[in-house]
Amino acid sequence: MDKLVIKGGKKLKGTVIISGSKNAALPILAATILTDGTCTIKNVPYLSDINTMIKLLRELGKDVSMIDDIVTVRGGSKDRCRAPYELVSTMRGSICVLGPLVGKRKKAEVSFPGGCIIGPRPIDLHLKGLRDLGVELKIKSGYIIADGKSMRGKRVYLGGHFGSSVLATANVLMAAKGATVIENTACEPEIADLVKFLQSMGADIEGTGSPRLVINGVARLEGCAHTLMGDRIEAGTYMIAGAVTKGELFLKGAMYDHLLATIDKLTESGLSILRENGGIRVKYAKRLKPVYVTTLPYPGFPTDLQAQMMALMSVTDGISVITEKIYPERFIHISELSRMGAEIMLEGPNAIVKGVKRLSGAPVMASDLRASAALILAGLVAEGATEVSRIYHLDRGYERLEEKLQAIGANIKRVKE
Ligand code: EPZ
Repeated sequence: MDKLVIKGGKKLKGTVIISGSKNAALPILAATILTDGTCTIKNVPYLSDINTMIKLLRELGKDVSMIDDIVTVRGGSKDRCRAPYELVSTMRGSICVLGPLVGKRKKAEVSFPGGCIIGPRPIDLHLKGLRDLGVELKIKSGYIIADGKSMRGKRVYLGGHFGSSVLATANVLMAAKGATVIENTACEPEIADLVKFLQSMGADIEGTGSPRLVINGVARLEGCAHTLMGDRIEAGTYMIAGAVTKGELFLKGAMYDHLLATIDKLTESGLSILRENGGIRVKYAKRLKPVYVTTLPYPGFPTDLQAQMMALMSVTDGISVITEKIYPERFIHISELSRMGAEIMLEGPNAIVKGVKRLSGAPVMASDLRASAALILAGLVAEGATEVSRIYHLDRGYERLEEKLQAIGANIKRVKE
């Protein structure tokens, strides 16, 4: 197993090219099931989660190739409808094959994804939305068995106690038949990118980016070409890397409009952030101040940047409060940041962070993708060496992380454990 060794204290300077979005890529790759035509998707990041989705599509009878950042998906097979436990259990995002399988092939057998390290992640809303469209569902031997023969267009309210769900929206949208209206849909840019992809395939969908999607079913979807949006979470992580190391970075390909809540909080803290041609420039200009952050569905502050923001606030003088409203248990990184000298107290979904003067490098363990990014950020500013183990989590979602960091001046290397 590999680990990353970081020697902290370097100011990061230069340009980072932001990769295509992992969380846009996964449902868009799944959407290729909706056609037998050829789909070409560009700007696809080279990540283990993408590799898992490619394996799953092959398992479902698709012919898939990836050359550089271009994935081509061809063909189809009406009979292959089983998403096996071995693949789904390694990546929850695999659940987004359920909607297109039942939409196109009228049946699906998808392994139940179960919980994960960031807390329970139920799929009741995916199932409710599909049932409302007339899909018959049962759970058998750990699999969701779906029969879509009696599907019909309908008005579906896709709401839970937590707000909206990103992948439930993706699943119901991809399954939709006839005239369908989905209310309370997720407004995340990754859903807007999926809508754009479906429109390129010939789908008739209105309401992009809003909580109400109106679909007029079409007889057939065709193959198409699409370029993925930039990864807003990767961009946000590098914005925080610039802030924590008191550096200056240009994030090429980062979409300013997708990051308004993050930009707002970092600006409030004192970071200078400018929209520039083709990206975003961040510059440490003055001592940062603590802030109060609450994670919320888009356009609120993203849960996927909560851990990274906590790493920054750990070394920002004063008291910050970070409230997690999406996954109230997504705080595993606190114990590892504390090992490096951070002072963080957890009270329910609120983390109270008392900024310390310095962190000190330590051996720490990555627990999930974004928690791992937070540990890297802490390592970049800590005194001495930080060794981050179990970095396969990072390889799921950050393309060439250590190469990108080295290129802007970080002292980071990957070593075999
Ligand atoms: C997506 O997961 C992302 N994954 C997650 O990114 C991200 O953290 C999350 O959206 C929130 O932004 C992908 O896009 C592949 P949700 P998703 O359904 O769609 C509850 C990362 O680090 N809920 O919007 O699965 C759920 O428990 C990952 O890249 C139900 O209760 O998230 C949570 O509290 C991790 N029932 C809230 O909704 C349901 O049926 C929002 O989750 C579905 C969700």
